[in-house]
Amino acid sequence: MLQCLILELEMVFSWLNLLAKSGFCNITGIDYSPSAIQLSGSIIEKEGLSNIKLKVEDFLNLSTKLSGFHICIDKGTFDAISLNPDNAIEKRKQYVKSLSGVLNVKGFFLITSCNWTKEELLDEFSEGFELFEELPTPTFSFGGRSGNSVTALVFQKT
Ligand SMILES: C[S@@+](CC[C@H](N)C(=O)[O-])C[C@H]1O[C@@H](n2cnc3c(N)ncnc32)[C@H](O)[C@@H]1O
Repeated sequence: MLQCLILELEMVFSWLNLLAKSGFCNITGIDYSPSAIQLSGSIIEKEGLSNIKLKVEDFLNLSTKLSGFHICIDKGTFDAISLNPDNAIEKRKQYVKSLSGVLNVKGFFLITSCNWTKEELLDEFSEGFELFEELPTPTFSFGGRSGNSVTALVFQKT
């Protein structure tokens, strides 16, 4: 059975539709904020959604054995961790370690970042991951140059 770990609960419902249509039925959402989990839990109940487990977990210090996932999706959590004023470099390294621990070999990691460019993310995840695909995101132009305000990449664990 395909397993998916979601690190971006507020977006979980759009991903859930997509994943459910693609055959995923074993989905786990985590956040270290109990109120984020509580809110998501009440929405899941209201919507009558099943096959999604919610857990309060610090991704940098996983308390239970979260592993064996085929896909991990993040929108904003790596960004939040990167902006932590307390030893962000070490925390980013720990994030990559945790990601490696939860994903199966050949598993996919989808990241959407408003903080990092494609090149920077390639560097952050260069150990143990390779770029599988870059997803299209809105572009803008300024001063004769164009760029993306958001980066969305799919990595595969090697
Ligand atoms: C910027 S918000 C992104 C929310 C949503 N995905 C979005 O795009 O609007 C970052 C989320 O990551 C969670 N978070 C930050 N550090 C975390 C950690 N170490 N472990 C688990 N969740 C964390 C925060 O509680 C917050 O809900």
